[in-house]
Amino acid sequence: MSQDFLPLNGTDYVELYVGNAKQSALYYQYAFGYELIAYAGPETGIKDRASYVLKQDKIRLVLTSPLHPEGPIADHIRKHGDGVKVLALWVDDAAQSWKETTSRGAESASEPKTISDEYGQVVVASIKTYGETIHTFVERKEYKGIFLPGYQPKSSTYAAQPIGLKYIDHCVGNVELGEMNRWVEFYENVMGFKLLITFDDEDISTEYSALMSKVVSNGNGYVKFPINEPAAGKKKSQIEEYLDFYRGPGVQHMAIATDDIIETVTELRKRGVEFLVVPSSYYDDLLDRVGEIDEDLEPLKELNILVDRDDEGYLLQIFTKPVQDRPTLFFEIIQRKGAKSFGKGNFKALFEAIEREQGLRGNL
Ligand code: FE2
Repeated sequence: MSQDFLPLNGTDYVELYVGNAKQSALYYQYAFGYELIAYAGPETGIKDRASYVLKQDKIRLVLTSPLHPEGPIADHIRKHGDGVKVLALWVDDAAQSWKETTSRGAESASEPKTISDEYGQVVVASIKTYGETIHTFVERKEYKGIFLPGYQPKSSTYAAQPIGLKYIDHCVGNVELGEMNRWVEFYENVMGFKLLITFDDEDISTEYSALMSKVVSNGNGYVKFPINEPAAGKKKSQIEEYLDFYRGPGVQHMAIATDDIIETVTELRKRGVEFLVVPSSYYDDLLDRVGEIDEDLEPLKELNILVDRDDEGYLLQIFTKPVQDRPTLFFEIIQRKGAKSFGKGNFKALFEAIEREQGLRGNL
């Protein structure tokens, strides 16, 4: 077997460009239970932006707003609204990662550079992926600071109340019709990922929301990127709605793992997070479809948590509504009990729920 030319230790952080990072930071702290750990901005010597770093277990989110109307961050927000800019990958050698990928055809977003402060040094380098999204390779083995050089520790007087979010299970990209295979090949050829699963039209078409999806994974399986493209349906696909409002390809959802989905979703609902609703009939024959599960059916039904089974076990999952006013980025909460798949058995119920929301927005 050939050597993995792009060994990844996992996701390092996800950075969102948002209209008002100060307020978004409080939303993610309050509603999702993240803890504010670091900040960069004018007070720390960064003149053009403010960035808040939030953490829960292994997940780090960075929320960034520009301080002026000029420049790439403001341009990004005007075009896309709030959304994911950086899917950062934790590596042992950022310069080598950049070299291996750019030599295989990746477009560079920024060349390897070493940044340092009193806590040591970090090497970062970035390549472009779909839309205006980038991957930043982060090499931090010589660094002992809170996040990255330029950031200072910052805490909130609001004490974080974590809800059991543990790590990023997968991050999904939406691309234009006919572009899915190009991006799957990008991950295969340029980043050494392997194709894990294909979902075609037949698997997941409802009356309207047909889409196609392929899942790629890196060598150790720590990083999984499903890629969606719209497929022809009777009316507008949910992927097209995303592309229309995001004005191009981008991250559709991040799935976050928990060990206790009932507890996690109970807390999220209590704190005002909105979820897609499937009809209660979904639960009538659920156990016939998925077999025996450890959980009681009643709380799952009450919280609208979905269940699916594959050859290796089962999974529980639920999807939030978009977390900004444009129908773009949303989150999935997932608890895996052996299953390594993505909930194919729920696609139909789920997509019908999405279409009801699309209909309410007048976008079907
Ligand atoms: Fe997902």
